[in-house]
Amino acid sequence: MKEKLVQQFKEVYGGEGEVHTYFAPGRVNLIGEHTDYNGGHVFPCALTLGTYGIVRNREDRQLRFYSVNFEKLGVIETSLDELVPDKNANWTNYPKGVMWAFEKRGYKLTHGLDILIYGNIPNGSGLSSSASLEVLTGLILKDTFGFDDVSMIDVALIGQDSENNFNGCNCGIMDQFASAMGKKDHAIFLDTNTLKYEYAPVVLEDAKIVITNSKVKHSLVDSAYNDRRNECETALKELQEVMEIDTLGDLTEAEFEAHKDAIKDPVRQKRAKHAVYENQRTVRAVEALKNQDVELFGQLMNASHESLRYDYEVSCEEIDILVDLAQAMPGVIGSRITGGGFGGCTVSIVKNDAVDTFIGEIGKTYKEKVGHEAEFYVVDIGDGAKAI
Ligand code: GLA
Repeated sequence: MKEKLVQQFKEVYGGEGEVHTYFAPGRVNLIGEHTDYNGGHVFPCALTLGTYGIVRNREDRQLRFYSVNFEKLGVIETSLDELVPDKNANWTNYPKGVMWAFEKRGYKLTHGLDILIYGNIPNGSGLSSSASLEVLTGLILKDTFGFDDVSMIDVALIGQDSENNFNGCNCGIMDQFASAMGKKDHAIFLDTNTLKYEYAPVVLEDAKIVITNSKVKHSLVDSAYNDRRNECETALKELQEVMEIDTLGDLTEAEFEAHKDAIKDPVRQKRAKHAVYENQRTVRAVEALKNQDVELFGQLMNASHESLRYDYEVSCEEIDILVDLAQAMPGVIGSRITGGGFGGCTVSIVKNDAVDTFIGEIGKTYKEKVGHEAEFYVVDIGDGAKAI
């Protein structure tokens, strides 16, 4: 992969000079959905799919970007003096946003770069292709300009800042954190309120994690994602009128039930309920995994989907078809939507000897019902972003 991309870099940009290669993974979240902007817990892991970047220094302040995935767009050129969002800049608004966020923090980018990108995460599938591009860019800048005091957690936070304030999606920290801090064969149990985290080995013994892509594209910026966040913020303010809490993640289910009437609107009440219950489910699920109770982990995944479907309302018909088929199938321990929602992927835990049937049968029925194919990936959990 690396040699091929370096070769392509030379074909696109020509010339001599040393190049450096980096990789940042996408992520799949096992449980803890829409909790990261509510001060709750998440439990994602980094994938071995992700975004590669080949970089060479320039002597001037020009920036040239080329994506193997968007060959038709050709080389997109800008400069370090033009770090503003621009529709015509297309996907390069992501790396530009990260450069902007570094400069905002006082890190001076003293020269331009030629960058070639290649990603093997399907775009818009809810597996964090954009977060991986942000973390990749952050790592490139940290390494190229020698910003040694910038930790990989800072890289994640800078990526989130760029996504929130340059690219207009009010996302939480989960995706960037998983891409920057992932660890092979482990999921990250992250408290998004404090950023305290611990790595939990994902030992499923006789089962595998399978991602199913509904191939219904979601676009978080345009979707109801920001609305959900606003609804939760309003619900929190209403609860704060009657109790002392900092986030919805501070509440147990019982505390929520005792005070929920402070939330005046029934829809907002459902949103807050999801945030509170999902956080508690995540804590329980990690405990279950530690106790090697994979069955319980699966039941909590199923309950998570139910809550995302009916209370948080971020699922869609195609995803519900996939989850219903999966949950009804022998050998499936648990199945739910993963990521921001409104399309994208499901994540399922499937017994080894049922994986082929899972892919075959769900693939067939989905095509009959929906009219297009689903895609399946049997997951390997990889490391976080690194130079390669
Ligand atoms: C998207 C966001 C994350 C998180 C998830 C939902 O992936 O980028 O911050 O909120 O949705 O859990």
